[in-house]
Amino acid sequence: MPLVNMKPLLRHAMDNHYAVAAFNLVDYNTTKGMVKAAEGLNAPVICQTSAKTIKYFSHKEIVSWVRTVAEDSPVPVVLHLDHCKDIEMIEECAKAGWTSIMIDASEFPFEENLEMSKRVRDIAEKYGVGMEAELGQIMGVEDDMVVDEADSVLTDPEDAKKFCDALDLSAFACAVGTAHGYYKGEPKVDFDRIAAINAATNTPMALHGGTGLSDETFAKAIARGSAKVNISTNLKHVFVQSFVDYHRANPDDYEPLRVVDAQYQACKALFASFIEKFGGTDQGSAFLQSQSEMA
Ligand code: 13P
Repeated sequence: MPLVNMKPLLRHAMDNHYAVAAFNLVDYNTTKGMVKAAEGLNAPVICQTSAKTIKYFSHKEIVSWVRTVAEDSPVPVVLHLDHCKDIEMIEECAKAGWTSIMIDASEFPFEENLEMSKRVRDIAEKYGVGMEAELGQIMGVEDDMVVDEADSVLTDPEDAKKFCDALDLSAFACAVGTAHGYYKGEPKVDFDRIAAINAATNTPMALHGGTGLSDETFAKAIARGSAKVNISTNLKHVFVQSFVDYHRANPDDYEPLRVVDAQYQACKALFASFIEKFGGTDQGSAFLQSQSEMA
């Protein structure tokens, strides 16, 4: 089916107490693996791209991969742009076929962040796509952005309300104690803050920094309004390690298709485990049914 807009999908997820898994794709095979894993579970999925990945490949290549696998699939698939600071690039994505875009102006003071996010809201409206924006600063390393623990700022629920009221977001990214990359110690996720932000904003929350969180943490965050959970670092590690492991186990096998298939199977199994954990199973057709009833 054609790619879907993230907004109604995340509203459905929040209302039905599950989260849609969002994975940062690496190449065609990881894109296919996430959609096939979702298909096997009748679940929706978000294929998301970092700005760095778009620069390495191109808008055209990425859209063609995601459309190719989604069009042959019965489950809802979103193509989302993860953390982007460049408004021109954001508009290019919306124009090229992304069905959701993210502006990350969280490093700027509130008013400046809001003003930049409003410009992106206008782009999202113009192209009829979903939108995510961020308030507060999430710790860790994402693309080439580094936020130290000392610089991270947890999101204030009252500011969150002002921000979300002005933007009508599909997903709200905020700092609630999670971090991009592997956790150094025990993650200190502020569940009361997640609940307070969700009560104040009534906006599906995007939980960033999914790698390394426990099943219990996911369940508690999702129960409090996290409707999108981002996973990137874990995929990067499985992507590289599965390739290396295959070669170590089969040092004389130089048939590339067997190597990339081992990698594909490992990544697909990883995607399926997260989709299941976030409660996505059987929500693909449930979402589509809810949309046809509304039409
Ligand atoms: P991890 O790299 O910690 O999985 O976080 C991913 C993320 O939040 C992407 O925006």
